[in-house]
Amino acid sequence: MATTAFDQAGAPARAGGPLLVVEDLEVDFKTAEGTVHAVRGVSLRLNPGEVLGIVGESGSGKSVTAMATMGLLARSAVTRGSVRYRNEELLHRREKQLMPVRGKAISMIFQDPMTSLNPVYSVGWQIAEAIRAHQDVSKEEAMRLAIELLRKVGIPNPEERVTSYPHEFSGGMRQRVVIAIAIANNPEVILADEPTTALDVTVQAQVLETLRTALQVTHAALLLITHDLGVIAGLADRVLVMYAGRAVEVGTVDDIFYRPAMPYTIGLLGSLPRVDTDGSELLRPIPGSPPSMVGEIAGCPFAPRCPRAVDICWESEPALVPVGAAASPHLSACHFAEEVMRAGEPLFAATSADTETGPGPELDVDTDGHRPEHDMPSPEPGYVLAEGFGRAGPGEYEIPLMEEEARPGEEPDASRHREET
Ligand SMILES: Nc1ncnc2c1ncn2[C@@H]1O[C@H](COP(=O)(O)OP(=O)(O)OP(=O)(O)O)[C@@H](O)[C@H]1O
Ligand code: SF4
Ligand SMILES: [Mg+2]
Repeated sequence: MATTAFDQAGAPARAGGPLLVVEDLEVDFKTAEGTVHAVRGVSLRLNPGEVLGIVGESGSGKSVTAMATMGLLARSAVTRGSVRYRNEELLHRREKQLMPVRGKAISMIFQDPMTSLNPVYSVGWQIAEAIRAHQDVSKEEAMRLAIELLRKVGIPNPEERVTSYPHEFSGGMRQRVVIAIAIANNPEVILADEPTTALDVTVQAQVLETLRTALQVTHAALLLITHDLGVIAGLADRVLVMYAGRAVEVGTVDDIFYRPAMPYTIGLLGSLPRVDTDGSELLRPIPGSPPSMVGEIAGCPFAPRCPRAVDICWESEPALVPVGAAASPHLSACHFAEEVMRAGEPLFAATSADTETGPGPELDVDTDGHRPEHDMPSPEPGYVLAEGFGRAGPGEYEIPLMEEEARPGEEPDASRHREET
């Protein structure tokens, strides 16, 4: 099996070194069906203040990577490799030894705030407890800090709302409370796993804005896990694309959006609506589904879905190697990375799902599976980001107050939760 051992992990070197280093992380689960190879040699580095997005389809290993980093995996997990925070090894540490790091230096935000919040305690009590777990302050001082944190994350009337219970908040406000807890002890790293996926679109943008504000307040670095490239484009500095338990492309946001060098990334981009067209542009999603993670994978795991696949793709799994200029931190795991990057998109057939003009054009592939390069248009910038959301410059950050009000006793957002995971 090819591994993704690389020195820079696509990250530019910074003074003081990276905060978080993951090297050749492998995670297996022993199951009745066989061994699930959930993570197969992932390496990454997170620099101070940086936002690294991890993107990929369901089952690609994003959450398992984050859970392994925080020591939160199920007992059935077998892990290898290294996870270091400030040069201290975290992998295989006992629960007690992880406590000083977890929630203090590194905090986590999950998809569903109800799994993070305790329904029987007020939000103020829960924030205050998080503070007192790591700081030597009185209950009164912790409650005062809790009110300040609620104000920072945009909860209106925090002096009153501090005594409310989670079910008295809407989904978006609950996720703001979770963000308040995540920043309560001034973490250096925040891991956010699909922090907006359970919310509807307009609330998503507000919560992302809150997350951005939280980064501004704490100067924390963020590992942002999502299946939504629009979210990545709005927040991340760099992106790691995962497929079948591996990093298959790593680069800056511009590398990934404007110079993708892996057909899978091109497929993810093809599933995203664009803002720079007249609306007639068809989506070009990836056909098929990801491979089973049970047992060994021979060759490139994307080959069964890749329009460019040729013999070598079925025989050997490509290593993650630099692509483009020698000094570039852009990495790709594709035997034809340079050609793919130069040629640009589209690679996948257009969908006819929401058009009246019939099926999209046939995929232009020659007999040996190669697309003639001269037919390929140049990549064009301009993808739809989460609504009302984009990268802001320094000093442009404002905390938007939540407009929505929750009704006590309301069953919160059950219909919005994803059924997968
Ligand atoms: N406790 C477990 N036991 C067995 N297999 C597991 C376990 N947890 C995760 N897996 C498997 O590991 C693989 C990676 O799962 P993971 O949750 O990391 O995916 P993901 O990229 O986060 O997907 P999603 O977008 O759906 O959250 C999947 O095949 C999943 O079924
Ligand atoms: S290695 Fe081959 S199958 Fe895999 S992404 Fe590249 S062209 Fe496609
Ligand atoms: Mg997940």
